[in-house]
Amino acid sequence: SVHIASTTAPVNIATLKYWGKRDTALNLPTNSSISVTLAQEDLRTLTSAATSASFERDTLWLNGKEESLDNKRTQDCLQDLRDLRRALEEQDKSLEPLSQWKLHIASENNFPTAAGLASSAAGFAALVVAIAKLYQLPQDMSALSKVARKGSGSACRSLFGGFVAWEMGEQADGSDSQAVQVLPLDKWPEMKAAILVVSDAKKDTSSTSGMQRTVHTSDLFKERVDTVVPRRFNEMKEAIVQRDFPRFAELTMRDSNSFHATCLDSYPPIFYLNDTSRKIIRLVDGINAFYNETIVAYTFDAGPNAVLYYEEKNEQKLFAFLYHLLSGVDGWKSKYGDEQLKAFS
Ligand code: DP6
Repeated sequence: SVHIASTTAPVNIATLKYWGKRDTALNLPTNSSISVTLAQEDLRTLTSAATSASFERDTLWLNGKEESLDNKRTQDCLQDLRDLRRALEEQDKSLEPLSQWKLHIASENNFPTAAGLASSAAGFAALVVAIAKLYQLPQDMSALSKVARKGSGSACRSLFGGFVAWEMGEQADGSDSQAVQVLPLDKWPEMKAAILVVSDAKKDTSSTSGMQRTVHTSDLFKERVDTVVPRRFNEMKEAIVQRDFPRFAELTMRDSNSFHATCLDSYPPIFYLNDTSRKIIRLVDGINAFYNETIVAYTFDAGPNAVLYYEEKNEQKLFAFLYHLLSGVDGWKSKYGDEQLKAFS
């Protein structure tokens, strides 16, 4: 017989950035981080996993195309999941030996991978949860987040919706480096994100290698991980729980700036922002100054695309400015038109 299970996992965008590993094999971070997981339907990976005694080899299809499973990160995730299943089978001898069978995995994104969005986060989160379902493992999301973390650090945060913290942990084996929910989205339903696709080109320095260059060469980085982020982590959690948008927004923008400053301080330097990104930063500052109130925050990951956070009640105030001013950005209209300026709820 064939067993099958499916799940979706959404993209998450960090508001307090993960940048740096203290253990590259286990993806253990040098600081705790916080993210907002976007609502399921907007940007998500759908993954189905099947297993059968008759399958001959593990196989993975991404967006309909067969992909190699021959990389350490995926292998580590599959191994952990099989170990967890084997433990169940040893406890209950009536269970079928799924842990010994090969897997067929099909994964599909509903957003263009080219948009430079955190597709690996949603991808590994969906992979781990789909197989956990298939294996009927206990649905303890923090425990499963430790498996997803080995696939891609940021993936551990995509196992939860809403506002999520990845606690860096202290143990050398990673047993306490896991994601926890800070606040479900329905407790702050006003929160919205808009993604401004500045470029769909592939980033030139991957996060994986870029962050280790920063760890090894940046002087600013030490200050960031020893002092700045630990304080900001608590402040941001507090701002989220109190639904204090201006405070949340300021901390988010400061952390994006701090992360990109340590990239610049790396040697050789890493550039993720471009001229359009910088125009967006000035625009957001200008909007907040115009209204004399912080109604919007920007954040940038390892690329030039902006994610803006705002509360729904301010959407018109924000978009009035965006449409007007972005049409003045060089090449914006001709290349992307108005469609790219899309709000994701
Ligand atoms: C800038 O999770 O992609 O988006 O653990 O090597 O897979 P690996 O890195 P990854 O890094 C994400 C970096 C970031 C910030 C963040 O998401 O917190």
